[in-house]
Amino acid sequence: MLLAGGLASLIPGRAKAGVKLTGYSKSAFSTSEKQTPYEAVTTYNNFYEFGTNKDEPAVHARDFKTNPWALRIDGEVAKPVTLDLDRILKLAPLEERIYRFRCVEGWSMVVPWIGFPLSAVINLAAPTSKAKFVAFESYFSEKQMPRWRYAGIPLPYVEGLRMDEAANPLAILAVGLYGEVLPNQNGAPVRLIVPWKYGFKSIKSIVRIRFQERMPPTTWNISNPREYGFYSNVNPEVDHPRWSQAKERRLGEFFKRDTLKFNGYGEQVAQLYAGMNLKRDY
Ligand code: MTE
Repeated sequence: MLLAGGLASLIPGRAKAGVKLTGYSKSAFSTSEKQTPYEAVTTYNNFYEFGTNKDEPAVHARDFKTNPWALRIDGEVAKPVTLDLDRILKLAPLEERIYRFRCVEGWSMVVPWIGFPLSAVINLAAPTSKAKFVAFESYFSEKQMPRWRYAGIPLPYVEGLRMDEAANPLAILAVGLYGEVLPNQNGAPVRLIVPWKYGFKSIKSIVRIRFQERMPPTTWNISNPREYGFYSNVNPEVDHPRWSQAKERRLGEFFKRDTLKFNGYGEQVAQLYAGMNLKRDY
């Protein structure tokens, strides 16, 4: 059983935070660094569909309906499929992944996510040899997202990864944090986490995963191509035009710390970019 009390204990339409996830294992990919308190992780958010101030998503996403949910997986695949929440939660054994999470704005946190490797989706859908990229799309509803007009970015939010990035064992789909179902403001019921990239790649509340030949458009690149590239790997050597990326502030800490290339995950991911000029292809 995945959820304490079973899935039936979730009131339809109200898959609320606070519901415990059980039966997950610990992962060797986890950091032992001090975890950012739950309170900060769940009240200091970027989820522009629910407001652009950090404290707004926790308020405006309170009644966001995340159950029932439909996640469509299609494109260049042998087996297109639509998954409901129950099937999403059973795609693969759940693991706790305690990851560093670095936002391009210069803050960072350490979060105990619960999820499973994104490769479970690749295995399920069986992409054809034409599939070179994976495109992700967030849920969007004007009705459910009352602050959408003020987002200042085109919606729905879209993101993308190269196939080999998506298959890397560090890339996960998260369904929880701190042992509980994801709070709405953190991207319920299912979101991407790619810990070696800036936080904006970690798209929330995903409704579609499409395998395709072409590099997909990404929200921040559409909004401001000079400031945001497709790869967006954490890189202290490449400054954002408005923010130095050399240092970061861990939420709750006073002094800044040095930012690590690939957010400290170089051992697992540096080989993905061998031969690439990361100063040009940022
Ligand atoms: N996904 C959607 N759909 N909408 C967003 O505004 N913001 C991104 C990313 N995913 C965003 C999104 C940004 S900029 C960051 S830093 C992270 O989510 C923040 O995740 P968190 O609120 O769980 O810390």
